[in-house]
Amino acid sequence: MADSWLRFWDRPHRIYVNDRHLRVHYRRVADEILGILPPRPGLRVLDYGCGEALEAGQVAAGVGHLTLYDAAPSVQARLRERFAGETGITVLDDAGLAALGDGAVDAVIIFSVVQYLPRAALPPLLARARRWLAPGGLLVVADVIPPEARMLDDIRSLLGTAARHGFLLPALAGLAATFFSDYRRLRHDLGFAIYGEAEMTALLQAAGFSVSRAPRNLGFHPVRRTYLASAPSLAST
Ligand SMILES: C[S@@+](CC[C@H](N)C(=O)[O-])C[C@H]1O[C@@H](n2cnc3c(N)ncnc32)[C@H](O)[C@@H]1O
Repeated sequence: MADSWLRFWDRPHRIYVNDRHLRVHYRRVADEILGILPPRPGLRVLDYGCGEALEAGQVAAGVGHLTLYDAAPSVQARLRERFAGETGITVLDDAGLAALGDGAVDAVIIFSVVQYLPRAALPPLLARARRWLAPGGLLVVADVIPPEARMLDDIRSLLGTAARHGFLLPALAGLAATFFSDYRRLRHDLGFAIYGEAEMTALLQAAGFSVSRAPRNLGFHPVRRTYLASAPSLAST
């Protein structure tokens, strides 16, 4: 792996400033995923770039089956250990993802991942997501960073969450640590992949979806955006 965001996520990092932050983060992500999915019994969901997915059990309990995939090998290993024996959850490795069949799931979640992908990697990923979805399936692309977002927005969001959940001091210490970390260097050297609404809509349409922007972003960053992309239903194909 070249110097990359993926390599960053594969190593120990301090993006989540303590255990409380980690739990608050994944609880909110799980609530948001459950809130945006159609309430259909037996729904098969793929969480692509799921990270630690600490509340995957909660998501799995609310849908039919949850499949988790993250490209970082160390994350994959922890997911396998964490969810071993959970019948409602499947953890995929790279080979498992490559073998995922056409129409295998009813919803794909890509939450806070797109900004870490090289821009050239997004169209093929959207095309794969389109193939993985059954007719009428839903792709949710959340936490997409628009051009007008500023680093200050991220800091405000972290400190607001920390103040609400009682970890303000650790958050301030975490910010100071981040200032001297790989994260800041990578953010400076590689940057984030940033997409305005017109561009993201066009990319999703080119992959065969009809697209709308969600009224608010899922998660912690109100300035970022969430897109809802529907695969054609059987009647319209
Ligand atoms: C900010 S975390 C998001 C985790 C989770 N989705 C959430 O919202 O909390 C980004 C995750 O994307 C994963 N990732 C980065 N590049 C990826 C890729 N090409 N394919 C799949 N996952 C990737 C990283 O390993 C990391 O776990």
